[in-house]
Amino acid sequence: MTVGAPEAVGIRIREAVDADWEEAGRICYEAFATLADRHGFPHDFPTVAAAAEPIRYLINHPSIYGVVAERDGRVIGSNFLDERGVISAIGPISVDPQAQDRHVGRMLMNAVLDRAQVQQVPGVRLLQIAYHNRSLSLYAKLGMQVRGSFAAMHGAPILERLPGYDVRPAVPDDEPAMNALCARVHGHTRAGEVAEAVAAGSARVVEHLGRITGYTNRISYFAHSVAETNDDMRALVSEAEDFGTPGFLVPLANNDLFRWCLDRGLEVFFVLNMMTIGLYQEPEGAYLPSVGY
Ligand SMILES: CC(C)(COP(=O)(O)OP(=O)(O)OC[C@H]1O[C@@H](n2cnc3c(N)ncnc32)[C@H](O)[C@@H]1OP(=O)(O)O)[C@@H](O)C(=O)NCCC(=O)NCCS
Repeated sequence: MTVGAPEAVGIRIREAVDADWEEAGRICYEAFATLADRHGFPHDFPTVAAAAEPIRYLINHPSIYGVVAERDGRVIGSNFLDERGVISAIGPISVDPQAQDRHVGRMLMNAVLDRAQVQQVPGVRLLQIAYHNRSLSLYAKLGMQVRGSFAAMHGAPILERLPGYDVRPAVPDDEPAMNALCARVHGHTRAGEVAEAVAAGSARVVEHLGRITGYTNRISYFAHSVAETNDDMRALVSEAEDFGTPGFLVPLANNDLFRWCLDRGLEVFFVLNMMTIGLYQEPEGAYLPSVGY
């Protein structure tokens, strides 16, 4: 899938190892913070540690492929490919602010796109911060298509109960129904992430009229949720005790759910675009993507 020629001179791309996490984490914090400051937006990661810990997790996860860019033996950027599902998700990608706009980002993107091609995955996706013109342009130049826009919503928990919609922790026996629901809405499962969230105790299901009509791995920026209807999704969101920041992702095309979040006092942190290569079908149902897809 490597697209286009320009490459930075003297840059080596290699697989990320545990020893890279602190420097890659610092760069991730600074790359996102510098960009947010320039546009007058709050920081995605409030501290270096808030960026570095996820980077450490990603580097050491057996189903997530990580790469770093090096110049003169020093790490200057990193990128990741989440391979837990049928679809692979790219990100976060970050390049040291001192080294940006010199094709390092392109090389890091091509490294994970090449990996996806070798692994023969049917599709690759990411969510891109809409105010960042450079990443939007880079991804489009690499062949990615914009599929939709999503508001990151945050604020105080809603803590309402919808009569007739019972939310409870998911257990391993629920996984077949959860995966079947995801396949109905998206055309593919996300079974690896579901199994992890159930084992970690963060997954919830909603039952309506005696069957599972929705699930969430966690109402969060980093996890996805799927439901038959907006009422099922409202029940899941209403029960969450903490949305974190930047908050969970609501498809702007789902006007009903977006307005409901606003009516409940939630605020928009920023807007992201979903971009894809390969397999994609319009979802048929309610859903909240993770920052991956
Ligand atoms: C996004 C990021 C990784 C890109 O890395 P980079 O090394 O700066 O980018 P590159 O130089 O490889 O590529 C930028 C491309 O966009 C093009 N570009 C930049 N601004 C553009 C604009 N306003 N309109 C059109 N094209 C533009 C450049 O010409 C270049 O294309 P080329 O490779 O065909 O010449 C880097 O800017 C970064 O770390 N940003 C902060 C973190 C972040 O936003 N991550 C992504 C979140 S979605």
